[in-house]
Amino acid sequence: MGMERADRATKKTKGTEAAVTSEIVAGPPIGAESPPTELAITLRVNGAEHQVRVLPGHTLLDVLRNKLKLRSVREGCGIGMCGACTVLVEGEPISSCLQLAWMAQSREITTVEGLSQDGQLHPVQQAFLDKTAFQCSYCTPGFVLATVSLLTSIEDPSTEQIKDYLAGNLCRCGSYVKIVDAVLAARDQGNPRKRHSSTASPVDERGVHL
Ligand code: FES
Ligand code: FES
Repeated sequence: MGMERADRATKKTKGTEAAVTSEIVAGPPIGAESPPTELAITLRVNGAEHQVRVLPGHTLLDVLRNKLKLRSVREGCGIGMCGACTVLVEGEPISSCLQLAWMAQSREITTVEGLSQDGQLHPVQQAFLDKTAFQCSYCTPGFVLATVSLLTSIEDPSTEQIKDYLAGNLCRCGSYVKIVDAVLAARDQGNPRKRHSSTASPVDERGVHL
């Protein structure tokens, strides 16, 4: 009797193994949900490489903010409408809420944490501070990164060009006037001719200010 029970148990186990083996070989039945598979990827962020495991559906926003703890990358709308999640990929501003993390592999990603050098704020960050171009500051990292991109792609942007370029970034506090002031200040800071002309009045041949 004991032997019979053991025999049945063995057959049952073997039957289960066979079923599992055939399922692995054949794959799950059509229509059945298969568990998502993690991917091991490398992200280059602010000059450093990070190995992370992500799901295929993880956004770059998820990974930068929650796995790499880069808290300047913020979620607003989650649908590409507000710019709060802006990061630079190869110098271009993108909405990281719309970008799948695995698709950003091996590309150079910049967040606000990567802008300062040797303890010095980037001139655009400094201009935003100097002009107090924020209230709650939730939108500020996105505006700063978009401005960095603007000033590297258009040499001497007009106020209209600035407004156009930053149209994808929204500020719920309505700090737009000061934000444009800050961008103009950053623009002029990077332009020695304008910096000189804005701080010095003309002088005559004796050095007397006119
Ligand atoms: S959170 Fe990405 S654009 Fe709004
Ligand atoms: S300063 Fe509050 S959202 Fe822009």
